[in-house]
This record gives sequence, C-alpha cells and structure tokens, in this order.
Amino acid sequence: MADLVKLTIDGREVQAAPGTLVIDAAKAAGIEIPAFCYYEGLSLAAACRMCLVEVEKMPKMMTACTLPVAEGMVVKTETPQVAAARKGTLEFLLTNHPLDCPVCDKGGECELQDMVFRYGAGESRYTETKIHTPEKQFSPVVFFDAPRCILCFRCVRTCTEGMGVGALGVIFRGAVSEIAPNTGDHLECDECGACIDICPVGALTSGTYRYQTRPWEMTHVGTICTHCSDGCKTTLGTRNDRIIRGNNRDHSGVNGEFLCIKGRYGFDFYESGERLQSPLARVNGKLEEVSWGQALEIVAKRFNQTVADGGTFGVIGSNHTSNEESFYLQKFAREVLRTNNIDHHRTGDVVALVDALSGKTGKLATVADLYEQKAVLVLGGDLSLEHPLLSYQVRANWRHHQAHVYAVSAGTVREDKYAVASIRVGASTPSDPSRFIHPHGEASAADYFAALEQLRDKLKSEPALVIVFDDSFKGGDVTTLVEFGESLGIPVKYIALVDYSNSRGAADMGMTPELLPGYKPSGQPGMHVNEMLAADLSALWVVGANPFKGGAARKAAFLVVQDMFLTESAALADVVLPAASAYEKSGTVTNVTGEVQKLKRAIHTMGAKPDLEVMGFIAREMGVAAALGPWVADVVFEEIRKNVQGYQIPTPVIATGGAAQTAPVNGRLPVELRPDLVHSDHNGLFASGTLGRYSKVLHTVVESRLSR
Ligand code: SF4
Ligand code: SF4
Ligand code: SF4
Ligand code: FES
Repeated sequence: MADLVKLTIDGREVQAAPGTLVIDAAKAAGIEIPAFCYYEGLSLAAACRMCLVEVEKMPKMMTACTLPVAEGMVVKTETPQVAAARKGTLEFLLTNHPLDCPVCDKGGECELQDMVFRYGAGESRYTETKIHTPEKQFSPVVFFDAPRCILCFRCVRTCTEGMGVGALGVIFRGAVSEIAPNTGDHLECDECGACIDICPVGALTSGTYRYQTRPWEMTHVGTICTHCSDGCKTTLGTRNDRIIRGNNRDHSGVNGEFLCIKGRYGFDFYESGERLQSPLARVNGKLEEVSWGQALEIVAKRFNQTVADGGTFGVIGSNHTSNEESFYLQKFAREVLRTNNIDHHRTGDVVALVDALSGKTGKLATVADLYEQKAVLVLGGDLSLEHPLLSYQVRANWRHHQAHVYAVSAGTVREDKYAVASIRVGASTPSDPSRFIHPHGEASAADYFAALEQLRDKLKSEPALVIVFDDSFKGGDVTTLVEFGESLGIPVKYIALVDYSNSRGAADMGMTPELLPGYKPSGQPGMHVNEMLAADLSALWVVGANPFKGGAARKAAFLVVQDMFLTESAALADVVLPAASAYEKSGTVTNVTGEVQKLKRAIHTMGAKPDLEVMGFIAREMGVAAALGPWVADVVFEEIRKNVQGYQIPTPVIATGGAAQTAPVNGRLPVELRPDLVHSDHNGLFASGTLGRYSKVLHTVVESRLSR
C-alpha cells in the first residue's frame, strides 16, 4: 500500500491514502464539511460550492469535494471567510427556492433546511419575483417540483451511474435549468425511487408518501424486504399501524441505501382490500367466516383423526415464510403427522450447488463479494430485473473497482453495457432500445457451456471470480458448472439464484421430501409437490404457497390453506387461515447468498396471525404442542442454531441488524438430484409471484405493462 499522505485539517494532523478527497479525509477525522452535490460513490460534479474550504498557499477557496489530499497541506474548514462563502452559497440557492418548508415533504430531514439553520442568513435580501414552475408528475411514484431543486445533479448521477438507467437529465441552461425525464413528459425507468431518496431537498417526492405525514411522526422499523431473494434491508416508517414509507437511508444491511421499486413501494399489498381478516370454513360447499376457535378445532380434529386412521398427509411450505416457520412446519410434518411428504416450489437448485461444493470451503459468495471480487460471470436471467440488488452491486464494482463483468444470457441485459464480454445464447426476442422493454429468451445449459468454453481463457487470467447462475443450470449441470469453475485454477465463488425472500431458507430448513434441515438425508423421501397434488391424500396442508395456481384439480380429501389472500389454492380449501405478512411478524430469513437477517414486526394486522402462531395453535388444539416446543420465533431460532448445520451464526450480529452467512453441510448429499422440480418464475421488477398481484403500486407504473 502506498504511503499515507499527512496533512492538517483544522489544526489536527490527519493521514489519508493518496487520492483521497479532502472532504473524505476530514470526515474520517470527524470533521464535517457541508456538501450538497458531493455524494460518496457517485462521480464528482462540483456544482454547488457548499464545500469551499481555505487551503494554505492557495489563492482562492477550494472545493473540498474535488481536491485530493497532498503532503503537508493545511486546510481550514471553519474560518470567517468559509462561513461567509457558505452563507453566500445558501443565499444563491434560496433565490428561487420557495420557503415552503412547513408543507414540504422533506421538512425535518432536508439538507438545505439544516444548512440554512447552521450557516444561512437570518433575513433574505431578495425581493424580486421568484421563478415559479408548476409541479410535474414524472410517474405514479415520482413527482418533481422544479423551484425547490438546487441543481446538485445527484438524481441524474444516481440514475445513470448507480442504477445504470439514465432516465433523468437536465434541460435548459443557467437559472432556468430543469431536471427532466427521459421520455419528455414521463419516466420509463426502474421506478426505484433512488432519485427521490438521494435528493437533498424536496424537489423530487414520492407519489406514495407525499403529504401523508411528517418524518418525526413515524416509528422507524428496520426489517427485510419480502419480495425477491436478494434480502434488502428496509426501514419502514409506520404511523397508526400503517406503513407509510420504505427506505434505507441509514445504509445498513447487505444493500446499503439500495432498494428497488418492490422494496421501496411494493409493501402496499399488506393493506389490499382483499386481505383475509377472518378464518373461513367450508359449510354446505361454500367458504364462510368462522371464528379462530372454530377453524382451529376443525383442523385439529381432522388432523388427529387422519393420524389415528393412518391416513396420508401432504404438506406444502413457502418461499416467503420465515426460517422459524419452515423449521416448525417440517418438524410438525415429520414428528406429528409422521410424513416426509413435504416440499415447496424450488426456484433454483441450491441442493445441487451444496452437493457440488462438497469438500470445498469458502465457495459461497456473499452480496458484498459482488462488489469486491475482481471479476463476475453472470449466467442466465436478467439480473437487473430479477435480482436488482445483485445487479446494482456488480455495476458498482465495475464503476468503483473496474471489475471485469462477463454476461452470458438469452436476451440483452443491462450488464452488456459494461461487460468485457457479452455472449447471446439460444433464441432471444428482439429488443426495442427506444422503450424500456427488456427482451428475454430461451437457452439450454448446453448453449451456456458452449459459451463458457469461448470464455475459458479470459476467465483463467482473472485473479478471482464469482459465478452467478439461474435455473438454466440444475441437477448435473450445476455439478458440471462447478467443475468448470474449479478447472480455471483461480479462486471461484458461486451464487445459485433463487426467486423469493426465503427460497434459500426453505431449502436450508428441510422443506423437501428428501432432505431434513441442514441438508441431512431424510431416509425415506416422501412425495414432492406435483406428486402431492396428484395423489389422493387424506389431508393436504398448504402454508404460504399457491400450488393450485396453474389450475390443478384438488384431489386431497381435506385441504387447509394458510395465506394472506383468497388465492386459487385457498379458494379450494376446506379451511382457510388468514396469515400475517413478513412486515407483521418477527423471525429470520436467509437470502440468495445464504445471509441470514432478522425480520422485525413493523405493524399489526387485524384478524391475521403469523404462520408460526397459527401452527402453534393447531398443535395446541391437537394436544401435541409439548412435542414441538414453543411457537416463539426467538426460541425456534435457538433450536435452529443448535440443530441445523450452517446456522451456528452469531446471534448479536443479526439481532443488531446485520447479516451472517450460513455455512451448509460440507459433504456429498446422498440423495437423487431433482432438476425436474426446479423452476424459476423469473419475476421482473414489477411482478412478485402472488404477492405482486395485490400491490397497487406495481401495477400503476407504466413499465409494468411494457415489460414482463
Ligand atoms: S426512479 Fe430510479 S430509475 Fe427512475 S429516474 Fe429515479 S433513479 Fe432513475
Ligand atoms: S431534483 Fe433534487 S437531486 Fe435532482 S438536481 Fe434537483 S435538488 Fe438535486
Ligand atoms: S432487490 Fe429484492 S430484496 Fe431488494 S428491494 Fe428489490 S425486491 Fe426487495
Ligand atoms: S459539494 Fe463540493 S461543490 Fe458541491
């Protein structure tokens, strides 16, 4: 490492790596230099002049956000001249800025308001008429109020650089410059809201949050997004038991400040008018509302009778329920209902990857690895649509570390823009670059392996590599892919893409007929999902899944469904038990990279109960609760930590909002791989399985109709 540079800031000796900007060196030493346009991780704009500092031997004040440290440099950040410069800058910024803080959404957390309090003039000298332009709606979620804009260009840069979209630009020049959307009058973009989040003032505001509350009136709860498997942490602003806002401004969790549209806005499914609020039971062929006591009694009696008669149970679990719920459900199935007929919809072949990595350690990449490793190979899917956080990480790695990115896919993908090599495989639908439409296509594993051979020499010369693959690879193809990776002679890590917020956790928790929690063989594998649907079961118990979505006829003699909505599966049930969403319960989930994080209850919902509680009540009603233990998330998690290989993770790390990666069993899995059971839904940005149907926001944005 190059020698550190020594300099003095406000009389304190500071050391920093060569190339460090004065603003960052000061921050590391605990000295804050005010800034508007500077934003860590984005390109430099030097647009606002708020960061001016005095530097000895320099004739004029310098912008600390563009000035690299130099040996012996003497910087002063709090002199009368600096204060006057800040006051002057603020006065300029306020020339056209309306003083409407009392009605502005940003009031209370506005950087301009804070700066004016600290450095601004007590009175305005400006008496001229301010330029006013009416507010514009760029999209259902993005509103723009030009007079409030201080032209810091953070929004333009975060959209172009961070998101790789480039949907915002500047029109006109000078005092009338204005931020404008890519299609002239509206946005066609990811609708991620990052531009709103990063706007230091109230110029860009959120269509879902605006005028709803003041920030200090909300309770802020850090939990995990419940849509895709990337596992973004989101801070939910709640008020009166309603979620008003989602963001991650404290930069905690695996995602820093990143959220896609689903994490930022797609929580609204929880307040859909179609939420079930009462249990339902079939009376004379029709589902009718019953009390919890009645519903639990029907289920418990029938389950006990089926056990007593030696009947056959089937249990289908979820990609969304918590680890604790999946663990408890499989324990219930195996120990009480005495069946290995338990499965879930497998969206990626995690089992095949765990098996292929037998005997090797440190081979599972984390979300951070996608930002840190020197090269990333993305095979299949469309990362920017299906795994927005992973795509964001890869893009940031390329921007900040010049990582080499390789993209092999059937359709064009966002990674093509900066990949050192992009290969199209299989048959792809043509793209329309003029619209925000992403093409997709079909390719076989054989197509991908042919492309990999073309890349072999280039990949071998990389110092390290992360291979990300979707369900184009399953079963033996995953083994072949790992053999390919290991033959490169460089350190390689892997990510098997899965679809939903706890798809990975479901596999880890033994939600399969052939494997117990921690990937231990179950001995006598039971039926998988399709077999259960086709069998004449005595009772089928579906928790948080919708296996009848495809129109399969119900064959089970008794069907119980726990869900938030009257889905296709729930509509066929004898008893429907209303379930709480991930935002209404505690527990843990495991993301696509095997990183475990904590769900925290943000709100309560009338009528519905967390699935763990529902299962506990059924156990109590059946008289088997003692055998299963308490249905309390923290207690079940301790049991998981004790019994599930890979989950011996430090509790304080996750209890304090961090993520800890699991290390699954490290040996061959003596079970038959089942590629035929693996199928990804390939949800794009505006879809999210059954949950997505009930989110209004995801359907109101124009892109939901333009893209898949
Ligand atoms: S919502 Fe996201 S993608 Fe759309 S303009 Fe803003 S930053 Fe860009
Ligand atoms: S809209 Fe906000 S982020 Fe964009 S330039 Fe204006 S003040 Fe900066
Ligand atoms: S990337 Fe996935 S986990 Fe993150 S906010 Fe979007 S849907 Fe949620
Ligand atoms: S923060 Fe330095 S010029 Fe804006």
